[in-house]
Amino acid sequence: MDSHAMDNKAMPQFPDSYWRESVRLPAFPKLSEDITVDVAIVGAGISGITTAYLLAKEGVKVALIDAGLILNGTTASTTAKITAQHDIIYDQFIHQLGEEKARLYYEANKDALRFIRKAVQEHSIECQLTKENAYLYTSSDSAIEKLEKEFAAYKQLGIPGEFLDSLPIPVPAKAAVVMKDQAQFHPLQYLTALMHAFIDAGGSIYENTIAVEADLGSKPKVITRDGHKITCQHVIACSHFPFCDLHGFYFARLYAYRSYVLGVKTEKEFPGGMYLSVDQPSRSLRYTTMGNGDRLVLFGGENHKTGQGIPTINHYEALQDFAAGTFGIKEIPYRWSAQDLVTPDNVPYIGPITSSEENILVATGYRKWGMTNGTAAALLLRDLVLERDNPYRELYAPSRSSTGQSIKTLIVENADVAKHLVEGKVELIQMRPETLVNDEGAVVDIGRRAGAYRDEQGTLHMVETTCTHMGCEVEWNSGDRTWDCPCHGSRFSITGEVIEGPAERPLEKIEE
Ligand code: FES
Repeated sequence: MDSHAMDNKAMPQFPDSYWRESVRLPAFPKLSEDITVDVAIVGAGISGITTAYLLAKEGVKVALIDAGLILNGTTASTTAKITAQHDIIYDQFIHQLGEEKARLYYEANKDALRFIRKAVQEHSIECQLTKENAYLYTSSDSAIEKLEKEFAAYKQLGIPGEFLDSLPIPVPAKAAVVMKDQAQFHPLQYLTALMHAFIDAGGSIYENTIAVEADLGSKPKVITRDGHKITCQHVIACSHFPFCDLHGFYFARLYAYRSYVLGVKTEKEFPGGMYLSVDQPSRSLRYTTMGNGDRLVLFGGENHKTGQGIPTINHYEALQDFAAGTFGIKEIPYRWSAQDLVTPDNVPYIGPITSSEENILVATGYRKWGMTNGTAAALLLRDLVLERDNPYRELYAPSRSSTGQSIKTLIVENADVAKHLVEGKVELIQMRPETLVNDEGAVVDIGRRAGAYRDEQGTLHMVETTCTHMGCEVEWNSGDRTWDCPCHGSRFSITGEVIEGPAERPLEKIEE
């Protein structure tokens, strides 16, 4: 027995999402012929499934495809807080976008929460939907002012909230802002029910069906890697990173961040509520109830740009220290990580991919708030397809112009890409593939830069480290055993297959 197996307080050796592990999902076929539908949706996460469900309910013929398995991407990695409290944001929105748009953002997310509650009731979905208060807090004196400003923004926008000087959990806090009557659930139990309702309404789902291109025109087509075509009236990209760009330059205006979650059985009882610190590194807490009735507390945080920073396993260790120092650890049955995409102004892109392509729609850039933003996206996408008015159309329009702070963010982020493009090429590498022990990966020197991972059986997997998107050098992710690109966040498996775009082609394999 190894030391991991003997010690319950140790982290699991491999990442595994509790959400994914605790539901049974049906399998769907791969698309194996050309088909014609009204709407083709690419990506079966919360936005794709909810949009498919809403459209099928209106009598629209929808095909939903996923490059891998349904509900296996970001939606399986969320902490699944259903709230309009999205970190410190309303003060920033009032100053950057104006009071009206700040209020619209709140309303859109409040509507999404209301929609989820209604759908759960309508379909009698057992998904542990519970009402919870959402707390933003700080443990440092220097951030109290930020929270005071955020609370002032709540008052200005008419958001119900309270300002507190402590938390109802054993985490030291100097100040907190609470948004009452928010919610949490088991996202995959909820979405499995919507998926079944979609199928019952005549919808079709195809897994392992990779969309590589969209053909434009009044009858656009999604082309799959196997060469099959889905002809339709509207294409909707809910694939996290849009599967096609069409000169929308999404790679230059979406920034990829990773964060980490530990699922912990704690020594102290977790009293409820959802918490997020505004400090760096951030900390997020909520609980969920497991099938056997035990509470699992989800400790999250440690955001960083994908492919950058310290070895990723250290982020899990930092969360482990935090859990031990606050609630105490009995056991850590789960750990997993998530990738989130952020826009320069922090508002998602939901709508036509470019101003000239009205029937190719995208939904992406939810930061870490996919449960409400993804649901708001589905409600807006439905209305765009059905040509109905929607109050949030302009707020989320992907072709909105950048202003003020978001222009500065664009410049800083693209300078960061340029820096990493050069740095990776001139880095000195000392490691050789022969020195890797089992279950170890690293960038190695084989006369040139290469990526190597020796698996648990001792087999060496080597890949070229030049990202197939725009040529930056990928880095080893020790926490998740992947190759991650520091420029636009593409991720690849140990054998080079694409896990996350914008890259479309795998890393080249190197045969020994
Ligand atoms: Fe753009 Fe790698 S993701 S260069």
